[in-house]
Amino acid sequence: MTQKRTFAFLKPACDRTQSAIIAELQFAGFTVLREETRVLDIATLKEHYAHHVDKPFFQPMASYLTNGASILLILSREDEADPVQSLRDLVGPTDPKKGEKEQIRCKYGAHLPDVIFMNAIHASGTPAEVEEEIARFFPDQILSPSWKISQWQRKYTWNDKLLAKRSLFFWFSGLFFPGFSL
Ligand code: CDP
Ligand code: MG
Repeated sequence: MTQKRTFAFLKPACDRTQSAIIAELQFAGFTVLREETRVLDIATLKEHYAHHVDKPFFQPMASYLTNGASILLILSREDEADPVQSLRDLVGPTDPKKGEKEQIRCKYGAHLPDVIFMNAIHASGTPAEVEEEIARFFPDQILSPSWKISQWQRKYTWNDKLLAKRSLFFWFSGLFFPGFSL
């Protein structure tokens, strides 16, 4: 059985804030399976935030995220709680101003009138997002079996289509240039 895990990254902030957030995650029952400090690049952000690329806040958000180090985390729990949902509950709503005061985004995010993206932390929303995001941010990770299988299926479906196109091309070539397809 694969270990239940989730993915998060701490958005750029001072070292002390990021360390305090990691301590809070551990105190709340999360184990850090992997931690890496990295300045995110624009291509990765466009993929990760594909659902927001056309929004007016995307450019300022990308500029904020590419101008400081983020801390990428793979997290799990020893108890029975679902790591994905329990992290989202701990993190709170997207807008830090709307959270409860003990939730991470409310506590560490910026409370600004028109800006939401300085909300301290990203947390995957579903198990499918977890696998997709771990594959994006940690491409060398050992992936869960179901994710690996779907990748293989995609690869082979694609190869089959390519093979079919090639066969058709050679079959047509054979009509005009007898012997070419042999
Ligand atoms: O991060 P979360 O899953 O809660 O929200 P999302 O809808 O997937 O949006 C991703 C990120 O875009 C948020 O965490 C914010 O940083 C940013 N965002 C924003 O700045 N303004 C919005 N109106 C919506 C999202
Ligand atoms: Mg989201």
